[in-house]
Amino acid sequence: MLDSTSQTDSAPGPTEWGQGRHGVGPWEEEHPGVPRPVDKRYDPELLSEGDRRNVVDAYRYWTRAAIIEDIDTRRHELHVAIENFENDANIGTVVRTANAFAADTVHIVGRRRWNRRGAMVTDRYQHLEHHQTVDDLMRYAVEHGLTVVAIDNTPGSVPLETADLPRRCLLLFGQEGPGVSEAAQKAAVMTCSIAQFGSTRSINAGVAAGIAMHAWIRQHADLKQSW
Ligand SMILES: C[S@@+](CC[C@H](N)C(=O)[O-])C[C@H]1O[C@@H](n2cnc3c(N)ncnc32)[C@H](O)[C@@H]1O
Repeated sequence: MLDSTSQTDSAPGPTEWGQGRHGVGPWEEEHPGVPRPVDKRYDPELLSEGDRRNVVDAYRYWTRAAIIEDIDTRRHELHVAIENFENDANIGTVVRTANAFAADTVHIVGRRRWNRRGAMVTDRYQHLEHHQTVDDLMRYAVEHGLTVVAIDNTPGSVPLETADLPRRCLLLFGQEGPGVSEAAQKAAVMTCSIAQFGSTRSINAGVAAGIAMHAWIRQHADLKQSW
């Protein structure tokens, strides 16, 4: 289900550009005298060369496939979607945060292309789905038993701070400028707003996504399972 447009393991991404600052060296340097693990989750090349990827220590030297397989065993019933009709620059941030919270899938609605820079290579470990239209996304939500909650500060919205979010949930975000489309808000069971107190009309969509995902985590995640 991983998006076929994902970069391959071999292509260096932003988190590899600063090699040497993160990660571990070759297995023999890090574990002198300890035989290499024979487990097939371990990547022989990473064991030989070292592992400079931006992954948690538990996944050091693991293949990408093994990491995805492991996260798949404990992904949350949380999906996130962002509308991308005007090429939104925040999608990378949304993907990175969704990865950090072990969200099930990130759905991109509208344009297929998005700027991966902000994802910092996390898209390699995150299930991504593309939907041409809001209707397509809503069909997916019905088929997968997901309750759609739009996130925007439009009239009639419910404060996110006190809302009960559904466990099997799809949080839907809008893009800079237009915000969540009318069609999407109509299809959602409710729209939740994040309380603001300053002069700006709205906050950055990537930041809003982080706040909303964390609201779901606070209500439904088992914190004993976090790293
Ligand atoms: C920059 S906002 C633009 C739309 C906004 N309704 C406006 O009037 O300016 C882009 C997206 O960020 C999210 N967002 C920004 N501020 C928010 C807030 N205070 N509450 C909920 N969502 C917000 C929403 O998903 C929104 O569609």
